[in-house]
Amino acid sequence: MAEKSWVRMVTAQTPTNIAVIKYWGKRDETLILPVNDSISVTLDPAHLCTTTTVAVSPSFDQDRMWLNGKEISLSGGRYQNCLREIRAQACDVEDEEKGIKIAKKDWENLHVHVASYNNFPTAAGLASSAAGFACLVFALAKLMNAKEDNSELSAIARQGSGSACRSLFGGFVKWIMGKAEDGSDSLAVQLVDEKHWDELVIIIAVVSSRQKETSSTTGMRDSVDTSLLLQHRAKEVVPKRIKQMEEAIKNRDFGSFAQLTCADSNQFHAVCLDTCPPIFYMNDTSHRQVAYTFDAGPNAVLIAHNRKAATQLLQKLLFYFPPSSDADLNSYVIGDKSILKDAG
Ligand code: ADP
Ligand code: DP6
Ligand code: CO
Repeated sequence: MAEKSWVRMVTAQTPTNIAVIKYWGKRDETLILPVNDSISVTLDPAHLCTTTTVAVSPSFDQDRMWLNGKEISLSGGRYQNCLREIRAQACDVEDEEKGIKIAKKDWENLHVHVASYNNFPTAAGLASSAAGFACLVFALAKLMNAKEDNSELSAIARQGSGSACRSLFGGFVKWIMGKAEDGSDSLAVQLVDEKHWDELVIIIAVVSSRQKETSSTTGMRDSVDTSLLLQHRAKEVVPKRIKQMEEAIKNRDFGSFAQLTCADSNQFHAVCLDTCPPIFYMNDTSHRQVAYTFDAGPNAVLIAHNRKAATQLLQKLLFYFPPSSDADLNSYVIGDKSILKDAG
C-alpha cells in the first residue's frame, strides 16, 4: 500500500427471495442455524433488490454503514460476524488500472464503508434482510478478492440473516439446515436455475410498506420458546414437504407446487397463531392456477402458473383493489425469477 489517498469500491446488486417452504425457528441464535431445511424462489432483481457499494481506503478509521441514506450502527453481532468472517477470507488485491495493491495481511487494519439501498420497503415482511445481507457479503467478497464460491459465501450471509443465504443463487434454492455444531454445513445450494421453470410469474401485492412490529428474529424466537406446533412442524412435517417440493419443482408440477406452497404458508401462520395473535388475511385465489405465500408481514406473494394466469389474476386484483393514490396500497410487482447480478 502506498499513499493514503486511494479508495477501492465495488457495487453489487442482489434480489430478494421468497420462501415456499419456510424457515421459522433457530436451534442456534448466534450462528443462525435453523430447525428445518427451507426452499425459496429468488426474484427478479429489476423489481425487489438491494444495491450495495462497499469501499475501502487507508483513510477510513472505522467501519461504517449507511442504509437507505441513514447511518446505522455496525455494533450488532450480525454485522460484526459477517465482517469478521469475510475478512478472514480476504486475499491479495491488485488493481493495476488504479495502481492499488493490497496484501492479504493488510486487510486486518483496513476499514470499510458501506452504502446500501433497498428499492422496496425495509423490514416490512418482503425479506429485506435476505437481499441486504446477501448483497453485503457478496460485495465484500468481491472487494476483498475472496475465493469462496457462492455456497461458501451463503454460510457467511446466513450469519447476517438466515434467509440471506438463499439469495446468493437465482432460481429455486434450498437452505440445508446442516448438522455440524459450528454451522459449517448449514448453507444454500441451487436446486434449479431460473430458466428451469420460466413460465412462473410472481406477483407481489404490497398492502403495507410499514415496518412490521415484530421482527422475524423476535417472532421466531418466541415461536421456538412457546409453540408446540413448531416442534411438530420442524420434525415431522417439513422433512417430508421438502422432498415433495423438490420433486414438484424438478417436474414443473404446478398442482403439487401450489398445494405445498399454500399449505406451508398456512402452517407457518398457524405457528405464529400458536405463539402470539397475528393479523391474518387470505383471499380466495384459485389454488389451481395460483399459489399464495405470506411471509412475516401482511404482503401477499402470488405465484401464477404462466403469463395467461397472471394476466387473469391481475385483472381480478385491479378490479377488486383498484390502485389508489396512497402509494402504500395496491402496487403489484410482476417478475420472472432471476439471478444475482454483479453490477460492479
Ligand atoms: P424483512 O422482512 O424485511 O426481512 P427483518 O426484520 O427480517 O425484515 O429484517 C430487517 C432488518 O434487516 C433491518 O432492520 C436491517 O437490520 C437489515 N437490513 C435490511 N436491509 C438491509 C441492507 N440493505 N443491508 C444490510 N442490512 C439490511
Ligand atoms: C418468514 O431470515 O428474516 O421470511 O434469520 O432472524 O434474520 P433472521 O430471520 P429472517 O426470517 C425469515 C422468515 C420468513 C421465512 C423465510 O424466509 O424462510
Ligand atoms: Co428478514
